[in-house]
Amino acid sequence: MSQMDELYPPAHPEPPAHPEDSADMKIRLDFNNMMSEFVGKYGFSEQDFVDLGGKVSKAALACTQKRAAGGMDWRDLPYNQGDVAADIKAYAQEMKAETDAFVVLGIGGSALGPMAVQQAINHPFYNELPREKRGPTRPPGGWPRLYVADNVDPERLVYLFDIIDITKSLFNVISKSGSTSETMSQFMIIKTMLEEKLGKEEAKRHIVCTTDKEKGNLIKIAREEGYKTFVIPSGVGGRFSELTPVGLLPAAFCGVDIEALLAGAADMDRLCQNEDIYANPAYMFAVLNYMAMERNMPICVMMPYADSLKYMSDWFAQLWAESLGKKHDLDGKTVNVGQTPVKALGVTDQHSQVQLFTEGPFDKIVILLGVDRYKETITIPKIYADIPSLGFLGGVTHNQLIQVEQAATEYALMVSGKPNMTITLPCVNEFTIGGLMYMLEVATGFAGELMNINAFDQPGVEEGKNAAYATFGRPGYEAKKQELDSRPQKNVKYII
Ligand code: PA5
Repeated sequence: MSQMDELYPPAHPEPPAHPEDSADMKIRLDFNNMMSEFVGKYGFSEQDFVDLGGKVSKAALACTQKRAAGGMDWRDLPYNQGDVAADIKAYAQEMKAETDAFVVLGIGGSALGPMAVQQAINHPFYNELPREKRGPTRPPGGWPRLYVADNVDPERLVYLFDIIDITKSLFNVISKSGSTSETMSQFMIIKTMLEEKLGKEEAKRHIVCTTDKEKGNLIKIAREEGYKTFVIPSGVGGRFSELTPVGLLPAAFCGVDIEALLAGAADMDRLCQNEDIYANPAYMFAVLNYMAMERNMPICVMMPYADSLKYMSDWFAQLWAESLGKKHDLDGKTVNVGQTPVKALGVTDQHSQVQLFTEGPFDKIVILLGVDRYKETITIPKIYADIPSLGFLGGVTHNQLIQVEQAATEYALMVSGKPNMTITLPCVNEFTIGGLMYMLEVATGFAGELMNINAFDQPGVEEGKNAAYATFGRPGYEAKKQELDSRPQKNVKYII
């Protein structure tokens, strides 16, 4: 063992460089407990899959055809972002030494992926670590702290300036549209502060933009001001953009191996091209959720048993909710469909929401996210052997404890007749995270096809954005302003 290895022992398995090395990195989907033979009345039978056959093959064909026709550009990201990844790595190396804090200014699809990946791969107290230990578990560490300023809560932004020095920070403005008020207002505040402190020329070096190649304000501003810019490919929407510079740039600035993320996604894509749902975890996941919706189970809980995967539930919640919650189907019919994602954390929520999940209404399915090999091991000392209710814990690892508790929750759900399934990652690293995110994206697109809705737009979000623009008197929103002003006035009787 070299001196460096002793200083920085590998805490978690290195991601394999090539898909052919990925056999022991396979993500497993266990849906036994979605089946009626395990959970009874609310479960499914194999005949249910057969009965759905026509719909499934129609949806699979539609996905294959759309992809071939260039209508699903996000599916090609694992293959076409190689050069981009190389540029990003070179830029990160160039800026690393002078950057103490890397700050993402973005929201929704421009924020949740970067947070989820950082949390999954790096130390849970990454920002608090001494600089030389920040980043991968091996040298070279020394990466900047990462902050994601997504909300526009004024306290949050002001307090951020208490802990970062803007003259030693790099601000990554991420907006596909270039018009999102939250992101662009943060940019306007920070650009002004930087220019006041550093002058226009020097301020430039502290801003990097990630946006569309041609459309929107941000690309125009970036060109005029001379900001470094990375491109979000035109056919890729916000919540499907983690494998573009939206996710790759912040990840690279935290030392994440972005090529392994792409390799994991490419490996998953191999499975996801299979039209047989028993061989395609993404399609099976979508089918199970679709059948649950059809059986009046409009809620799906995602419950990772790993703090590293906690923000994966936040990322998934947006992906699933914004993609599948729709008023109209593709034929223009009013359908008001969707499945409400609920976030939970194992084991923490065993002491909070699990009571509801086991004994409450039959309106939900639970998706457990498990891990075979955690990055660390810690053993409970063999003390209090004379106290039976504590002594049994002596010599047990926390790894065993969390896994046994996960299995126990799975059992409790099963005996309560509550459908549940488990996605297991052999370990959490870049390769498996790339694979997991890609799988859930494909599942979302496929569920959209099964539901006959457009999974890639978000008219409900636009409605809220437009109402805010109208309130501020943005030109072009006069009609919306009139519509807003004519809404029913609040009755004081109902405000107590
Ligand atoms: O998934 C989406 O499309 C949205 O959540 C967007 O990412 C979010 O609204 C931010 O939009 P933009 O990237 O245009 O600023």
